Amino acid sequence: GSRTFFVGGNWKCNGTISSVDKLIDALNSASIPQNVEVVIAPTSLHIARAQEKLQNKGIEISAQNAWVKGNGAYTGEISADMLADAGLKWVILGHSERRSLCHESSQVVAEKTVYCLKQGVKVIVCIGETLAQREAGDTSKVVTEQLGEVAKSLGSDASQWKQVVVAYEPVWAIGTGKVATADQAQEVHQTLRSWLSSNTSSEIAQSTRIIYGGSVSAKNCTELASLPDVDGFLVGGASLKPEFADIIKSGS
Ligand code: G3H
Repeated sequence: GSRTFFVGGNWKCNGTISSVDKLIDALNSASIPQNVEVVIAPTSLHIARAQEKLQNKGIEISAQNAWVKGNGAYTGEISADMLADAGLKWVILGHSERRSLCHESSQVVAEKTVYCLKQGVKVIVCIGETLAQREAGDTSKVVTEQLGEVAKSLGSDASQWKQVVVAYEPVWAIGTGKVATADQAQEVHQTLRSWLSSNTSSEIAQSTRIIYGGSVSAKNCTELASLPDVDGFLVGGASLKPEFADIIKSGS
């Protein structure tokens, strides 16, 4: 297709100096297909270490979060200004763990998105329904409302959307080993793309990468990667294992 396949590895709150070194060594010797964009997200503490060690030019580094504004009296936070200054090209925003555990609203996620893009940091924005919401038949409503907040801010500005990857991560599939079926994933991805078409522009809908996250593994990635509206993955647990290299290859 016309959209470059995107594989993100979200390391979440995991790692030691030595495990980071080992993961980066493995990535340095992995062959990254030319037509797959690979981005890894170590913890804030480990980003500099990963940058120092990483030699594989096909891979970029992302932060897992950023503050909603620039530098200032915001104890415990890091700003998009700092990410840009450190040479980082990407940030993950609105991960379900931040939405549920840190009470980040879709409004805050949208605000962060705008601020990061302004600083020149590209955004992987995460959305997804809980099991209860899916069982109530609310999946489309929930995910389009979450994406809708971002769309309210970005409007139909294609140059802004080019810097955004949408990660659809059903909460019930994250870290559970319960991956969405191909039908479930394709249905939501298609819903999101047609929503983008109606609410932004068909150009934006066609060019925006919509990636899937939630128990992606070497076993299930090939089928998911073949779906017309799945443009890549956001991988959690398996991004800390050798199988991450196989998941990357599934996109080529
Ligand atoms: O950001 C990644 C997702 O939360 C998926 O995590 O692959 O461990 O299910 P998982």
